[in-house]
Amino acid sequence: MHDLFSPRFKANPFPHYAHLRETEPVYCHVAPYGAHIWYITRYEDVVTVLKDNERFTKIPPYQKRPGSQTGGVSVFHMINRNMLFADPPDHTRLRRLVSQAFTPRRIEQLSPRIGNIAQTLIDNVYTNKKMDFIADFAFPLPVQVIMEMLGIPLADREDVLAWSQAIIAPGRHGITLKKRKQHVRAFVAYLEKMFTLRAKQPEDDLISALVAAEEGGDRLNAAELSSMVALLFVTGHETVVNLLGNGLLVLLQHPRVWNNLQHNPQQLPAVIEELLRIDGPVETSTTRWAAVDLTLHGRKIKAGDTVRVVLTSANRDDRVFEAADQFLPQREHNPHLAFGLGIHYCLGAPLARLEGRIALQTLLDTLPDLTLAVQPSDLEWHTGVIFRGLKTLPVRW
Ligand code: HEM
Repeated sequence: MHDLFSPRFKANPFPHYAHLRETEPVYCHVAPYGAHIWYITRYEDVVTVLKDNERFTKIPPYQKRPGSQTGGVSVFHMINRNMLFADPPDHTRLRRLVSQAFTPRRIEQLSPRIGNIAQTLIDNVYTNKKMDFIADFAFPLPVQVIMEMLGIPLADREDVLAWSQAIIAPGRHGITLKKRKQHVRAFVAYLEKMFTLRAKQPEDDLISALVAAEEGGDRLNAAELSSMVALLFVTGHETVVNLLGNGLLVLLQHPRVWNNLQHNPQQLPAVIEELLRIDGPVETSTTRWAAVDLTLHGRKIKAGDTVRVVLTSANRDDRVFEAADQFLPQREHNPHLAFGLGIHYCLGAPLARLEGRIALQTLLDTLPDLTLAVQPSDLEWHTGVIFRGLKTLPVRW
């Protein structure tokens, strides 16, 4: 029996996943309310699920029946109409429209700003000779980057963060359902005001581009726009914080690699891929549903059951990766699944890689003597299902 949500499990889930891959690659967790949640841990099976959006869907089969309620009455409908929770053809349409706005040019343009933000965050703490890397650097950096990219004024940072946290991690903050609804309403009202402003007077930002995005007369409607912006805001920072936090923890436990990078920064992109593989920010994918009854490794999965693929397990499957539990910064064959696969492959992967490279380069340049200020075994990890990340990471120099 694996308690997938306990702090102890989260501290080091990898031996448990290795055991599951060998003994029970399709593992059934029975939720307290009786539902069957299937965890898929082997690389090959994870690929199968992520590529098969006919049998594994983002909308449960009971919601697809004619006349079923799709959630239109709920306030959350205003924030849930996003592509991560859509199947084709809706997904195809939403992804096409957002791709018009979320372009490689817009991402590349951000490089100098990401560098400035990273440098300012270091300047703020430099003379203290220590920091909590999560609170002082890894969290504020991607928050500021995605806010500037979207065109949300920094003065609204605390409000927007409070609203979005209420949507994605109410448990983490002990937020009631009533409060959560209030936050969603406030967030939607705020965004709608901004859409009206940008429609009248476009700026060079992602919100203006999303408002203007159009293909063959098709546009994003109000609920789709707020859902898209909320999705980009959340995915834009909840993941990168963990790439930086988990990644720096690995690097500081390998001081020779850290020192070597100072002389060979051209190796940074490959190192980042290996960090994404060895301890990536997304532990399990978002939920998929079995659309039909099916059998996998002898286990009978029923139509309507929940299916989750464990990306951090697939990325350590020794059927695919040699010395899978070892951090090998020069690894040549590295087809990791940290950004998912198939139609929901991470839209923000190029931005995440860029932020990771610039952030780590800034640390290597300005704090070459960085070390951990605690024992790794004393660190605490968040206990949510999807993200894998540290609560704090004290470091000094
Ligand atoms: C290292 C950082 C990141 C990691 C590891 C990551 C990982 C992922 C994964 C695994 C998925 C697929 C989830 C699933 O299939 O259930 C995904 C989807 C997505 N990611 Fe990321 N992500 C990162 C950063 C970002 C950033 C910076 C953005 C953008 C601002 C972003 C935007 C998205 C979007 C919009 C989707 C949904 C795509 C779709 O449904 O078609 N991500 N990401």
